[in-house]
Amino acid sequence: MHAYAAEDPVFKAMNAYGQRETDGALGDFCVQCHAPVALAEGATFDGQNLDDVSPPLRGVTCTACHQIDSVEEPHNNATTWIPDAWFRGALDRPMPSPAHGHQKSVLHDRDGLASSALCGSCHDVVTTSGVRLERTYLEWSHSQYSEAEVDLQQTCGSCHMPGRDGKAAEVPGAPERRIHSHAMPGVDVALTDFPEAETQRALVQDALDSTVWVQLDVFDYGAGTGITVALDNIAAGHGFPSGAAHDRRAWVEVVARDASDAVIWSSGTVEDGEPLRSVIAREPDLWWLGDWARKEDGSDAHVFWEVAYVEAATLVAPSRFPPDDPRYEEAHVRRTWDLEGLSPARVDVAIHIRPIGLEVLDLLIASGDLDPVYRERMPTFTLEGSRTTWTAESEEAERE
Ligand code: HEC
Ligand code: HEC
Ligand code: HEC
Ligand code: HEC
Repeated sequence: MHAYAAEDPVFKAMNAYGQRETDGALGDFCVQCHAPVALAEGATFDGQNLDDVSPPLRGVTCTACHQIDSVEEPHNNATTWIPDAWFRGALDRPMPSPAHGHQKSVLHDRDGLASSALCGSCHDVVTTSGVRLERTYLEWSHSQYSEAEVDLQQTCGSCHMPGRDGKAAEVPGAPERRIHSHAMPGVDVALTDFPEAETQRALVQDALDSTVWVQLDVFDYGAGTGITVALDNIAAGHGFPSGAAHDRRAWVEVVARDASDAVIWSSGTVEDGEPLRSVIAREPDLWWLGDWARKEDGSDAHVFWEVAYVEAATLVAPSRFPPDDPRYEEAHVRRTWDLEGLSPARVDVAIHIRPIGLEVLDLLIASGDLDPVYRERMPTFTLEGSRTTWTAESEEAERE
């Protein structure tokens, strides 16, 4: 996804739309993270010419990370980046290379908490009007994974860069070492004919599958049935969803059937191609997860620079703060639906996520900035580990 950051047609469309809508005031805001090297080298200013920029400068390149020398603030890429002859890394005694020297760096060592700040420098976006729009690093720093003392400590790299034994360089005499995957799957997928797009998609599916733990409780209260669903974010070291959570669409689908398998009640059943916000409009009880970005007057803000505030409804990671600390947030959340007069024989629950909401894409298609073909390519993932079923039969059996 880092190589893709400046190829992403949605990024390019959103940037082009933004430059036009703001009369160029957006400037280099977007490329400072999506194409930092092209910006630093003067190959682009506002990202509108990215297609003409030489490929080695596009996106979050090797040097974009490996020449970060210090992190000033963990947001808006506030780093000191030095294009000198040294690459920063975590390897002990690297082989000499004619291409570049090597400098040991704690920022690049995933075994240390400092390395999360390197990722956080870009994975935390504060808009030009001061809104904390993407908060992945902030969320992580409030989670138990950022705790220095406990065994649970996990940096961004511990989860996103799994290690294996292999050679760090394809040269004669290179030793076997611990090397680390740079695939970094999250939830977004390449929508273009990008190298290894299918592998990426499979890795994303894998990461998503075990992220949320679902508990389902179905109870007869005489005049009807109550369905309680409880969710816990058990594998993401930040919110679920995170990052561009204002563009993400995650939701809970609950379906109740009678003994003949006919659907008698449901919530969150979304057709392919149907924007989630249209479903929320007719189904106010739908349980969605993400950020709702608003303008000053409370109406929907579809784009970055219009956002005045954000209503967060993401599943937080287990907190590192005790419950009496103001920064504590409850990670175990539940919701109950009341099915008056109904007694289902079977209830199924599943969680779905779209990396980018179709309504976001529709806006960019309508403005003429995005080719509609990308809308068809936007996947909807189902978190396979979230699928949970209750049947009256199994409940009966349990009672016996
Ligand atoms: C998003 C930031 C980022 C980008 C982009 C990136 N790296 Fe890395 N790379 C890291 C981090 C962090 C580590 C250290 C992992 C550790 O050892 O804890 C690393 C480790 C390495 C290592 C040491 C061996 C290993 O796997 O641990 C090599 C070699 C390397 N990177 C080369 C590259 C090359 C070549 C590219 C571009 C094709 C690249 N990196 C792009 C962050 C990045
Ligand atoms: C120079 C800025 C920068 C740095 C530093 C950086 N990233 Fe990223 N990262 C990005 C951008 C930009 C994207 C999004 C590309 C896109 O979707 O257009 C991204 C995408 C990702 C994704 C995929 C997101 C998704 O929605 O699927 C993951 C996971 C990720 N980065 C992890 C990391 C980790 C771990 C580190 C630290 C080792 C790191 N990043 C450092 C800029 C950065
Ligand atoms: C405990 C493991 C863990 C840690 C620590 C962790 N992540 Fe993740 N991350 C995940 C998993 C699992 C997913 C996939 C599920 C999901 O989409 O939330 C994910 C997803 C993402 C995504 C996709 C966004 C989205 O909506 O889900 C980004 C971006 C990301 N991580 C960046 C980071 C950064 C940056 C850090 C450090 C500040 C970090 N992660 C720390 C496990 C982790
Ligand atoms: C501080 C760094 C930073 C800045 C500034 C930034 N981005 Fe990003 N952007 C990221 C990171 C990191 C990701 C990956 C996180 C994720 O996918 O959840 C991302 C992901 C994206 C994505 C793909 C995911 C999605 O759902 O939208 C788009 C499109 C995008 N950015 C557009 C923009 C545009 C347009 C701007 C300028 C208005 C911008 N970004 C400014 C860091 C940044």
